Amino acid sequence: MPKFLRNIKQVTYNNMVEQTHRKDYTISMPSPDNIITENIITTKKATATDTGIYKHPTQQYWILNTEKSSYTLGISRDGLVLQTYWGPRLLTLEDIPEPPLRMERAAQDPDPSNMPEEYPGYGGLRYREIAAQVTCADGTRDLDLRFVEADIVVPTNLPELHITLQDASYPLQVTLKYQLDSTNDLIIRRATFSNQGEETINLERVYSATWHLPRQFATRRLTTLAGHWGGETRVQQRPIVAGTVQMESRKGITSGNAYPWFALDTQASEEQGEVYFGTLAWSGSWKINISTNIMGATIVNGGINEHDFAWTLEAGASFETPAFIAGFANEGMNGIRQRLHRYTRQHVLPHPQVEKPRPVLYNSWEATFFDVTEAGQSELAKHAARLGVELFVVDDGWFPARVNDHAGLGDWRVDPQKFPHGLKPLIDNVHALGMEFGIWVEPEMTNADSDLYRTHPDWIYHFPKRTRHEARNQLVLNLGRSDVQEYLIDALDKLIGENEVSYIKWDMNRPISEPGWPEYSGAHHDAREIWVRHVLGVYHIMDTLRERHPALSIESCASGGFRADLGILERTDQVWSSDNTHPDARLFIQEGISYILPGRTMGNWVTDTPADRQMNEIPLRYRFHVAMMGMLGIGGHLSHWSEADMDEAARWIAVYKQIRHIVQDGEQHWLISPSSNDGNLAAVECLNADHSEAVVLAFRRSNPFWEPLPRLRIYNLLAEAQYTVQELGHDNATSVAMSGAALMGRGIELPFSTSSYESCLLHIKRS
Ligand code: GLA
Repeated sequence: MPKFLRNIKQVTYNNMVEQTHRKDYTISMPSPDNIITENIITTKKATATDTGIYKHPTQQYWILNTEKSSYTLGISRDGLVLQTYWGPRLLTLEDIPEPPLRMERAAQDPDPSNMPEEYPGYGGLRYREIAAQVTCADGTRDLDLRFVEADIVVPTNLPELHITLQDASYPLQVTLKYQLDSTNDLIIRRATFSNQGEETINLERVYSATWHLPRQFATRRLTTLAGHWGGETRVQQRPIVAGTVQMESRKGITSGNAYPWFALDTQASEEQGEVYFGTLAWSGSWKINISTNIMGATIVNGGINEHDFAWTLEAGASFETPAFIAGFANEGMNGIRQRLHRYTRQHVLPHPQVEKPRPVLYNSWEATFFDVTEAGQSELAKHAARLGVELFVVDDGWFPARVNDHAGLGDWRVDPQKFPHGLKPLIDNVHALGMEFGIWVEPEMTNADSDLYRTHPDWIYHFPKRTRHEARNQLVLNLGRSDVQEYLIDALDKLIGENEVSYIKWDMNRPISEPGWPEYSGAHHDAREIWVRHVLGVYHIMDTLRERHPALSIESCASGGFRADLGILERTDQVWSSDNTHPDARLFIQEGISYILPGRTMGNWVTDTPADRQMNEIPLRYRFHVAMMGMLGIGGHLSHWSEADMDEAARWIAVYKQIRHIVQDGEQHWLISPSSNDGNLAAVECLNADHSEAVVLAFRRSNPFWEPLPRLRIYNLLAEAQYTVQELGHDNATSVAMSGAALMGRGIELPFSTSSYESCLLHIKRS
């Protein structure tokens, strides 16, 4: 028989087995293969499983059950680890499909290119996107990873499955780690490479995971987040057809041009429909490839970007990738938010800060820019305290020579001209006003005009004969170097310890360039490691500072939201979402960033933007409502605010404190996405854990046709409970009593007039 026909027969046989299995019609099935018959008989006796990780009693099959999803794995006859299913929850071990025998279609579409391999390496007949690529000491550039063993381990929090693979000819082991977060329907994957031989192995691509989505009849829709400075995390959607969509950062930071996050659905709405989604916990250059073939098989691959990457894995050494967290949920796009928010609060954010409400902060940047003085900051602190601010943050400009962005970065000492008695008098003042004190730093940077650079010109990334490109007049320090790390730990430790600093805003305002490290390059080292070593350096410095100052909070800022990822959130408490504080822009930015960041980490300020209030009046109320959907801050020049504005701001801050437990730690549902109607309307609902209390923030930018709005239906209340609905912060507002069923079914009328920039904050509480 020609090979082509044999292949077709094989595929057909596999399909028959799948169908037969589903119908429970087993024993009389004609089979050319005893192994399969045995599997079917065995699985008929299998018992039901609960959430958790289980191994089939007789087969090399595993099932990872979350509350709403199942993910199953099996070992092929050739020892490949295959994903056999990912989707709605299965109930019994009997439901686990057996791994496909062969998926070769023809010599041009060979095995294992078509196999749903969990961690395909570059080697053999693989022509699709791969997860790993290495070069062995003898020059072999072909990876042949085969299954060795698997262990289910239950450490303190989340259970894990470890699958060990071994290269067929070289002493390289790869362990695939799967952590299971059952309540949030998430699987957290990493891979660890271990060199068990005597010679080095060069790692050239080390992704965190490969995910396979089942084939289906309809075309999938891909949602991603993209942007630029001042316009981060905007939601992008497109149908995916055969081909590869590639998202990446090559900047050495997470980047705001693309975010390491994706969602794939078919017909999901905000609240309904099946969605696969994922995000990388990595704050450096990354890549996610989403590939679909002509038959609709979709693979997502991702991890550290292989662009200009290399890692020398010495004899006896290991390398662990960052985590790739992915999930399947059937509650629409908001289902992604709920899951990633809960996971981040429960398993990512640092303790004990995550247990306390985030404070209302004031930040001086937009008020004073570099014109920071003891008197000016004390004046702002006085106004901020009057509003009810709890944390006062001095931004850029407090260190020597920092009168503009041309000088001073790297010299983390207090400017004796601006602060003749050091920071102490200002900090004492801030404390006496009942606020905590925070300060801005940009540790990874130096200006050419700084003592640090004059003393250590070799401490930045550079190639000796090339221009050292500046961006915002600054250069990037080589955080792979331990002496640079020690210098920064020492300087920041002193700044924090000697000044009772309880908060640092850690900024990063330019990407890495000229990524050279002349002293490191050579026979045994590859300077292309800097892309990873830089991130590990940042993590190490942050971790050390937190260890030494357990009450310290850190804000992650990179010209706004250019470093917002679950890797940085393991050691920071919040993220500055964007330098753009215009409420119109913010609704889009906050919609996008809320796919990743829970409310307590999403920094939003009320500022003097737009500056020209004559031309473009946006009420203070509207600006507060937009900023109140996360971690509220104030950034305006308070010395210039009118008495009426100050009083109103104090009222809104008091309201925020009343509801912040829901906004920061509750479920967040975008009831009306600004992306769905050009930003003219938006509504967000936040709900507490037992759904007895909710907050709705609703916005209408303009109403050119003077039309009334439809009623707004509230989500996820208790149908039989009675609620009181009250508009907060509004003097004449009356309250209305309604059942949960009526609020969810009929909805509520929004208290909007026909003016522009209408907004409201509704508090819904079980009576
Ligand atoms: C970046 C930040 C701003 C501010 C300035 C200071 O642009 O995003 O919030 O801190 O740096 O130079």
